[in-house]
Amino acid sequence: MIDASAAPLPAKRPVLLFACFGVNQELWLRWLRHHGPDIEIRVWPQIGLASEIDYVLAWEVPDGFWAQFGALKAIFSLGAGVERLLLDKDIPVGVEIVRMEDPSLEPAMAEYVLLHVLHHHRDMGRYAADQRQRLWRPAASPLASERTVGILGLGRLGRACAELLVTLGFDVRGWSRTANPMSGVTAFVGPGELDDFLSRCEVLVCTLALTPQTRGILDLALFRRLPKGALLINVGRGGHLNEPDLTTALDEGCLAGAVLDVLSAEPPPQDHPFWSDPRIAITPHISAPTRPQTAAQTVIAKIDRIERSAPVSGVVNRSQGY
Ligand code: GLV
Repeated sequence: MIDASAAPLPAKRPVLLFACFGVNQELWLRWLRHHGPDIEIRVWPQIGLASEIDYVLAWEVPDGFWAQFGALKAIFSLGAGVERLLLDKDIPVGVEIVRMEDPSLEPAMAEYVLLHVLHHHRDMGRYAADQRQRLWRPAASPLASERTVGILGLGRLGRACAELLVTLGFDVRGWSRTANPMSGVTAFVGPGELDDFLSRCEVLVCTLALTPQTRGILDLALFRRLPKGALLINVGRGGHLNEPDLTTALDEGCLAGAVLDVLSAEPPPQDHPFWSDPRIAITPHISAPTRPQTAAQTVIAKIDRIERSAPVSGVVNRSQGY
């Protein structure tokens, strides 16, 4: 007869709580279950016993949310940017926060940035305006190698943009807080080299993480250091930009235009001046959306590694802020 008391206890299935708002929940759950058949997935607010939850996949959770969990092994951010999670003082200090590393993010971001760099580089805004006035005014364009594009922030997304622009022959320079060299990209490091970096950027692309050090970095003083008539592309966070300063910079001519995929309020209020400013193109935070199909797989793979005590990539350095 088998002594049941001697049989090993079945291993507890890891429990993942899905707590993301404003996303296609059905699609996410389908892909999480597809990639993680051995993981128990609970959906906020039906959390069951909070002490049984090992992992949370979160985006914009309500105030006080984190206080209920006792023993989390990790928190996964639905987005690459984690500034909102870091603002939440309830997240226990010992719990690792893991940023989203969906492999779809980099190509999507690089594509969005390239689209707007090329639009500016080939003066397409002027040709569109000319067409509306039945004007035929050809002008020579510089070569890509004669156009300098600066990437402010060389994390995974910034590097993907830089790589693609280098492939097309643009003169690419990158600025990062600490040295992060890339082949084909002229590197500038730290606050001491920021002015030198800016001095030649005819297009400035902000892909920085939002931290207390980078909040408001896109201000009038910075715009005035760019070559006259530069284009700003902000795909970082709305908090990087001083919005009234942008209007002043456009009025002064230090900027010719701006492409903003992120704003301080999303959506901006109906009376926000950017809606109707022809010099500003706004898009509704679509440059690099997390795709459940691929993102769910990365989250499940990381849970699997943590369960096997293997290291995972994308762990946020809380004091650094990203
Ligand atoms: C989106 O903005 C993200 O953080 O991935």
